[in-house]
Amino acid sequence: MYCQSNDELNTLVNEARKVTKDGKVADYIPALGKADPNNLSVAIHYPDSNCISAGDIERKFTLQSISKVISLAFVLMDRGCEYVFQHVGMEPTGDPYNSIAKLETMDVAKPLNPMINAGALAVTHMIKGSNVVERFQRLISFIQSMADNPDIGYSKEVAQSEFESADLNRALSYFLKQHGIIDEDVEKLMDLYTKQCAIEMNCLDLARIGLVFAMDGTDPINGNHIIPKEIARICKTFMVTCGMYNASGEFAIKIGIPAKSGVSGGIMGAVPGKFGIGVFGPALDDRGNSIAGIRLLELLSNKYNLSMF
Ligand code: DON
Repeated sequence: MYCQSNDELNTLVNEARKVTKDGKVADYIPALGKADPNNLSVAIHYPDSNCISAGDIERKFTLQSISKVISLAFVLMDRGCEYVFQHVGMEPTGDPYNSIAKLETMDVAKPLNPMINAGALAVTHMIKGSNVVERFQRLISFIQSMADNPDIGYSKEVAQSEFESADLNRALSYFLKQHGIIDEDVEKLMDLYTKQCAIEMNCLDLARIGLVFAMDGTDPINGNHIIPKEIARICKTFMVTCGMYNASGEFAIKIGIPAKSGVSGGIMGAVPGKFGIGVFGPALDDRGNSIAGIRLLELLSNKYNLSMF
């Protein structure tokens, strides 16, 4: 799809790019360490199919934690709210995304929300299918339908790199298994989860997915009803309360839109009823969110009064 480069957006990107020097590319997943910290790109997708962009929007990146909100939507459709929320909670943690701390201090070992790694692992566990290949195929088909792009795939290199280094996620999974939240082989769950996190796309695809959330689960361009409105609402609420981890409160105050970040440096934004945003800037702040991506969203929100509050 064609997405027009926009001068105003370019000006904001150039301004936001100044803070990349204060960030750092994630390298705990070794393959992510290769990204260029100075990159910053953005696409905004409108319901009338218009799209504006700035930066190198052909560049692909892996979804990482952005995939958590999509897998949540998928599992809620597959299993229903009652079942899903028996296994994962609805409350923000105020802790980093990979923290194990709250699992042990809660009465039941149920992860507090689906956006932290423990909760996301419980969600991925709930993806239906007879084996990992089928479960992954079902998830990626859903993502392709959200982005209206059948070519979306995953990075084998990033998936493998995370699979080989995901000891903390293995620890979280074994903890969840011990407490009956999950009941599958942890290596199989790691295989599925690391492939899910390695699903790869560009800003334009991400903005289109953000648009579907923004428009209550319907793709306004092709008219497809992809997610029931109620589930889209739940996902957007999680994006506001937990989408930026322990920076979610500050993000809500300064920017005020539902958004989800990933350690690859992507951020998906969904401005309710208005448009979807896809940002990529791999230099991260100390809480694992794209440092220039957040600055850019702040500039955008201030300039165009995007806060929903
Ligand atoms: O599980 C992990 O650690 C990564 N695959 C995803 C973490 C992530 O993206 C956190 N986001 N800021």
